[in-house]
Amino acid sequence: MNTKNRFLEHYKSGFMPWVHKKPDFNLVEMVGNWPIKPCRALEVGCGTGTDALWLAKKRFDVTAVDVSDIPINIAKDHAIKAKQSINFMVKDFLSEDIPGSPFDFVFDRGYFHSYRSAIKRKQVVRAIAARLNKDGLWLSLIGSCDSPPRDSGPPMRSVKEIANAVESLFEVKLIKTSLFGTNQENPANIWVCLFKKRN
Ligand SMILES: C[S@@+](CC[C@H](N)C(=O)[O-])C[C@H]1O[C@@H](n2cnc3c(N)ncnc32)[C@H](O)[C@@H]1O
Repeated sequence: MNTKNRFLEHYKSGFMPWVHKKPDFNLVEMVGNWPIKPCRALEVGCGTGTDALWLAKKRFDVTAVDVSDIPINIAKDHAIKAKQSINFMVKDFLSEDIPGSPFDFVFDRGYFHSYRSAIKRKQVVRAIAARLNKDGLWLSLIGSCDSPPRDSGPPMRSVKEIANAVESLFEVKLIKTSLFGTNQENPANIWVCLFKKRN
């Protein structure tokens, strides 16, 4: 089953272990410390929109897309309740236009890492580069292979796999180890990656 259909099935079955109620602290830290200033931002594979909502509250002008309507409807509901204006859209990022492109900042938490094939990961990187302005930044939270073996949980990618996919189109500004910001016990190890589009 391909990545898109896998996630559509996940949402239909209600199995969504990545859903987090609070914004991921890695996003919060990177935006605050790098710093990444409020700008036109795109979240890819936004799920139920927790991080998109946080960005909007921090005065980013946010577009957020997901391939499934199930999380997007939940995300829209959260945004209405929080009185935040966010352009949530159901889109297949790899095959559809994203209105509002190009953006200054792209964020993904667990979208890029979902692709098992190196060819597909390169396709994702090309699609992200195409939706970014000159000097645009991409912050990606990616499951790490430097973790104890486990039977379930997020994909485990190596720095080599990440570099192979991104380096021709992006400068690597930062890669550091961290944990997923989640309400679950024993969060998985991740790479926090900040890339800048090559000109
Ligand atoms: C691991 S989940 C992470 C969701 C969200 N970022 C979070 O952390 O809660 C990956 C997300 O990517 C979405 N996705 C997968 N393929 C996609 C595609 N082709 N276009 C847009 N979104 C996609 C899935 O539906 C899913 O919501």
